[in-house]
Amino acid sequence: MFKTGSPVKGNDFIDRKKHLPIFKAYLENNQHVMIKAPRRFGKTSLIKQVFEHEKSFNYIYVDLRRATNLTSLANQILEKAYSFAGVENFMEQFKKSITGLLKTIQSIKIDDIGEITLQHLENGVKDEREYFLHSLDVVEKISSKKELNIKFVLDEFQDILRISDDFILEQMRSVIQHHEAVTYVFLGSIESIMTNIFSSKASPFFHFARIMSLDGLDIDELYLYTKEVFDKQNIKYDNSLLKMLQFLQGHPDYSAQVLQALYYKGIVEDLKMINYEICLEVLTQVILENRAYLEELISKTKQKKHHYEVLHSIANGYSVELNSKSLYNIHISLEEMGLIKNIERGKYVINDIFLEVLLQQKDEGLLLEEQIYITNFKY
Ligand SMILES: Nc1ncnc2c1ncn2[C@@H]1O[C@H](COP(=O)(O)OP(=O)(O)OP(=O)(O)O)[C@@H](O)[C@H]1O
Ligand SMILES: [Mg+2]
Repeated sequence: MFKTGSPVKGNDFIDRKKHLPIFKAYLENNQHVMIKAPRRFGKTSLIKQVFEHEKSFNYIYVDLRRATNLTSLANQILEKAYSFAGVENFMEQFKKSITGLLKTIQSIKIDDIGEITLQHLENGVKDEREYFLHSLDVVEKISSKKELNIKFVLDEFQDILRISDDFILEQMRSVIQHHEAVTYVFLGSIESIMTNIFSSKASPFFHFARIMSLDGLDIDELYLYTKEVFDKQNIKYDNSLLKMLQFLQGHPDYSAQVLQALYYKGIVEDLKMINYEICLEVLTQVILENRAYLEELISKTKQKKHHYEVLHSIANGYSVELNSKSLYNIHISLEEMGLIKNIERGKYVINDIFLEVLLQQKDEGLLLEEQIYITNFKY
């Protein structure tokens, strides 16, 4: 079935036939990996599939989007690392009894690194950078002492620059390059920032990790899965079903939403046949369901000079009259907002197919009547 709203795994996980074996091979060989893809493209699902569903590795997962500062991030990391060494609820135990915790730590045989954690904590964390870097060392120490070969997933890694600054990258790199018992997996949805961190020569993370890009789901794979679902339901379909999947470009989230809407429509209305009109109706419905999110994206561009004009011009294939330097800067900025992608020299595309559709509406009045022109979806 088609599940939406949260990352998927197991039976809900479709395709990624090319990505899974490579990703697992990297992990087995302790090769650090960076995975970049636009928002909602299935990064977390891929991680969940490998780590939670297939359960082949010991892993620590932290989401940097949810961290407010380096200390809170370090706390999360330490909590998980120490639980691998048999110390559950580290922070809670610390609050209850420092001497009790000290005894436990000394009993688990991880050299004196546990004492160092306590020193950091005892008088309230003084230097959050040092504390954070220390938390990384704890993972390494525990992984190596307990022979766990821990895989360490840092989701939304580009947010490290939101909670800290460029220098933290240098500091991190100099600490983790010595780690031999930990494999790092960096995920990120702002492709240009991730590329800067991992592919620009001046960056401390240059060539540190193998880079994998997640693009849309394989259409053939998705179509096979979809056909099976509707065949089971005894719902017939014509070629528009495949055309619609092609139109959605394998966008994992939107494809799942559209197919799910179609599936429930099939049940509720006892549908016999999926045709072009049905597909168009469901597409329109799902675009409108995502409208608040999409309009928020648009309104963010309107707050910055010329951003909306440039975005609009990309969606509609015309060029705006701006000098090349401003245009360059706006492109970079739209990339950093995660909205566009550079496909070849000077050529950009909109990452989000529904955002593109919304930007292509000629008559905003129609939107009020909940009608949408979907120009590129033809039978
Ligand atoms: N392999 C897949 N099979 C089926 N559906 C998928 C798959 N990958 C992603 N999806 C769909 O896309 C949605 C978004 O996936 P996920 O949360 O993994 O993406 P993400 O890239 O981590 O997103 P975000 O940038 O918001 O963190 C899921 O809720 C699911 O509906
Ligand atoms: Mg995610």
